[in-house]
Amino acid sequence: MDAATGSPEARAPLPGLADPAQDTGIAAVADLLACPRCRAALQVWPEGIRCSGCSSRYPFHEGIPLLAIRGTSETWGQAQATEQSSAYQAEYQRVENAATYNLAYRDKLLKRSSTRREYELIARHIARVGRSRVILDLPCGGGRLTAAFAGSADLVIEADIALGQLLYGRAESAVATPRAWMTASAFHIPLRDQSVDGTVSVRLSHHLPTAAERERHLAELLRVSRRFVIMTFFDHHSLKNRLRQLRRPFDRQPPKMTMTTARVAEIARAHGARLVDAPPLSRIGSGHRYALIVRDAVPA
Ligand SMILES: C[S@@+](CC[C@H](N)C(=O)[O-])C[C@H]1O[C@@H](n2cnc3c(N)ncnc32)[C@H](O)[C@@H]1O
Ligand SMILES: [Zn+2]
Repeated sequence: MDAATGSPEARAPLPGLADPAQDTGIAAVADLLACPRCRAALQVWPEGIRCSGCSSRYPFHEGIPLLAIRGTSETWGQAQATEQSSAYQAEYQRVENAATYNLAYRDKLLKRSSTRREYELIARHIARVGRSRVILDLPCGGGRLTAAFAGSADLVIEADIALGQLLYGRAESAVATPRAWMTASAFHIPLRDQSVDGTVSVRLSHHLPTAAERERHLAELLRVSRRFVIMTFFDHHSLKNRLRQLRRPFDRQPPKMTMTTARVAEIARAHGARLVDAPPLSRIGSGHRYALIVRDAVPA
């Protein structure tokens, strides 16, 4: 894979190439990139990334290309809802906040045991789809789950809307597989259609307050994935959600941000793919499901 070519400055070292085992730099995936605004090809230059279509420019921060478009449904031409996930997009921009989130997972017993189960579910799905050249992890957070699938790929793209998460993950998480890092919005993934083998997207859907956001997120994962998507969603029919609905008149807790398995399957079908499994993280303690969506050629 080649970065932009043709001029002497394009041959200068690209940011992020210092430690090839840990960070291959964006040059390694340059030919997979597409402008998050107009989807035209992107050219990687030492001083930043440039769109060949709309001329947008995307700078680097400490070697990480900033390809995230902030905002929600207004950015893809749908009416703005009162409740949207814009504030959540800002939550982990600072590396200190990212550290708090990731250390809580490392330290709290319940979270540690749910992470173990998450590793098992991911490993089970990955075993079914086989080896990959490139897997996109979006949102990667601080790289909590990367080790569950990185061994099955030649390269992992770690992406999150929050720069703080990426800086934290790049410093703290370790896998042997080469990785490239970028900020990216799950609503505007800066990659070409079907450019990666598959995508892993854990614990984002249930933070998205509107159906428009949840469905856009899944549609984008399906657009960029050639063979599979592993995505968590909060099951509308889970015991946890049922109980919450029953308690609602009394405790006035806001409703969970859910999807039904049927709707996930329907969106998969609309993109030429199939939902083949969606095991729950736990039948009682959690409403999350780990969906495995595949395109044909992967055994059902
Ligand atoms: C609960 S964390 C999950 C991270 C990781 N998958 C894990 O399980 O540890 C959710 C992440 O989504 C990121 N995020 C929020 N909105 C996003 C968006 N629109 N696009 C991409 N990432 C987003 C946040 O910055 C945060 O790191
Ligand atoms: Zn563009």
